[in-house]
Amino acid sequence: MASNGAEIESRIEHVVGLDPRALDTEEIEEPNLRPKLLDEFIGQSQLKEHLKIVIEAALRRNEPVDHILFAGPPGLGKTSLAGIIAHEMGADIRVTSGPSLVRAGDLAAILSDLSDGDVIFIDEIHRLPKQVEEVLYPAIEDFKIDIVLGKGPGAKSIRLDLPHFTLVGATTRTGMITGPLRDRFGMVARLDFYDVDELENIVTRSAKIYGIGLDRPGAQEIARRSRGTPRIANRLLRRVRDFTQVRGKGTIDLASAREGLELFGIDDLGLDKVDRAILETLCVTFRGNPVGLSTIAISIGEEPETVEDAYEPYLVRQGLVVRTPRGRMASDRSWEHLGIERANGMSKQLALYPPDQ
Ligand SMILES: Nc1ncnc2c1ncn2[C@@H]1O[C@H](COP(=O)(O)OP(=O)(O)O)[C@@H](O)[C@H]1O
Ligand SMILES: [Mg+2]
Repeated sequence: MASNGAEIESRIEHVVGLDPRALDTEEIEEPNLRPKLLDEFIGQSQLKEHLKIVIEAALRRNEPVDHILFAGPPGLGKTSLAGIIAHEMGADIRVTSGPSLVRAGDLAAILSDLSDGDVIFIDEIHRLPKQVEEVLYPAIEDFKIDIVLGKGPGAKSIRLDLPHFTLVGATTRTGMITGPLRDRFGMVARLDFYDVDELENIVTRSAKIYGIGLDRPGAQEIARRSRGTPRIANRLLRRVRDFTQVRGKGTIDLASAREGLELFGIDDLGLDKVDRAILETLCVTFRGNPVGLSTIAISIGEEPETVEDAYEPYLVRQGLVVRTPRGRMASDRSWEHLGIERANGMSKQLALYPPDQ
């Protein structure tokens, strides 16, 4: 079984990557699972409490809610919360993203088309071009927009009133949001990784929506290996469902969850191939020395952004990787997890690989 399992694993391991950003298929699969009401949104209890008050107060005053910024790693529920806010306010939502708003006019067109109380959701708001961000300032502060008519010396700027909308922004990088933009949000909320009980509730809810049989130990096992991320919990649920169905069983239990996850190359801590490659780079290739982000990325064949946004937060959170001013380092736990002995002393090669940040 072991060698056979390993063989299958090497063939299909890449099938279930744990990059928490949405896969193309998930753009289609996820909307059904997205909670629509605040009460259906599991976990993040403090944030929910906060939002409940903000929404309730706005409804009583008959005003739109204040602009809100959600920050946190991918897959934790930022887009879902934007939808929930609109839904709870009985408002319409327009969805766009930082990189897709190329010119100031792109944003102006969306804003002038809104109605009072509408929500505009700008995903990846840290990637908004500077000239678009500048249009956004007066829009969110005073609900005004400056439009330039004509060109050259005869050009005239006119100020238009906008409806009173709510901006909900989402970012995976708080550090990359400019101060002036961040300061214009009435509320900045950080989403944190979920604990196993919350993820168990999330997969149990999803299983019900999908009509999949899932017992409690099975749900706990999937939750435990979902690296704190609802999107991954749902992804693993779908893959274990496939596995269980192929094996001709109806309900996902502990054994089928374990076997399925193992087959898909997800280990006991919920790490996938890329996570392990990062740990191996730090522990084996660089023998425990600090390593810069782009060096890690090159050595595992991924983009630095992917490593930093998608993989590193959970590895840091698990205490497997430590960020130091000289670069990323593996902790003792990484060696333990890889089952290898810790390298002794600093490598002489260090000078060849100066950390890049
Ligand atoms: N708190 C939650 N309760 C239930 N499901 C959730 C929760 N947060 C996220 N999800 C699920 O995870 C998926 C990804 O969430 P999403 O809001 O798209 O995350 P983000 O925008 O932060 O990347 C959603 O489709 C939803 O099904
Ligand atoms: Mg999102």
